[in-house]
Amino acid sequence: MTDYREIAPAKINLALHVTGRREDGYHLLDSLVTFADQGDVITVRPAPQDHFSLSGPFSGALQQEDLSDNLVIKARNLLRTALANVGVPPSAVAIHLEKNLPIASGIGGGSADAAATLRALLRLWKGALPASTLQTIALQLGADVPMCLHGLPLRATGIGDALTPLKTMPRFSLLLGNPLQHVSTPAIFKALTRRDYPPIGPLPATTDQTEWLEALQHMRNDLQPVAIQLCPDIAALSTLMAETGAALTRMSGSGATCFGLYPSLEKAEKAREALQAIKPDWYFQAATSVSEV
Ligand code: C5P
Repeated sequence: MTDYREIAPAKINLALHVTGRREDGYHLLDSLVTFADQGDVITVRPAPQDHFSLSGPFSGALQQEDLSDNLVIKARNLLRTALANVGVPPSAVAIHLEKNLPIASGIGGGSADAAATLRALLRLWKGALPASTLQTIALQLGADVPMCLHGLPLRATGIGDALTPLKTMPRFSLLLGNPLQHVSTPAIFKALTRRDYPPIGPLPATTDQTEWLEALQHMRNDLQPVAIQLCPDIAALSTLMAETGAALTRMSGSGATCFGLYPSLEKAEKAREALQAIKPDWYFQAATSVSEV
């Protein structure tokens, strides 16, 4: 029987500026996003009846939750309805999620899983939907799902759903770290004291990594100061990464995951070993980011 396997890569907000707020409470953002070569894994296959199973280092917490609330199941249901509406009757399916990324940690997690589920099921069901229908389904699942569906470097504006591909963004060697403390995205947005920060300026018109790094140094994650107040270990983590030679450290999304950018994957891996020894209970993963360069 054919399995369809899709990686759900960790999403990294290299910068995240909060530029406003919509009437419905959602925040307007200006964000530079890339994706790691590490992530969760979604596997789908035809089955006599629908089934959802989990494995992986971070599957434990999900097992405790109501699985019908999982974004993977919501993605399956929305796609099935959309395909049925265009005359493709989707069959029953077994979905397996290998959960390698920490839960609720600012690197996409559930959003990446939902996007990978859509990709895998479109292959299995051999369904074709207009890009606009897929975008609507993705956005219904969450503000970050459209960018996860794209999966390549991009600038996101609007509430994170207006995407401009960044074909000149180079690859970065990085370390992801997380103190494994749950940070609530709505709570972080709610705690902001200012919501009109300046947007990200013009971007380097080059593929040169040094120039991108220089530009990134002048950007921010506007959610980071608030997140540090609620989870002080984010500041400690950032300092630890800087001490191991990261040229830039910053929080991703609403935290608590931080990334450090290193000159090479070897140096990121060395930093991982050193930091894991100091903080054996925290999450560390070295990775390379994707690029179209
Ligand atoms: O869309 P998603 O479910 O991922 O968003 C989680 C929460 O994060 C929202 O309910 C909202 O409180 C907050 N959010 C926001 N502005 C955004 C994205 C998310 O205020 N652009």
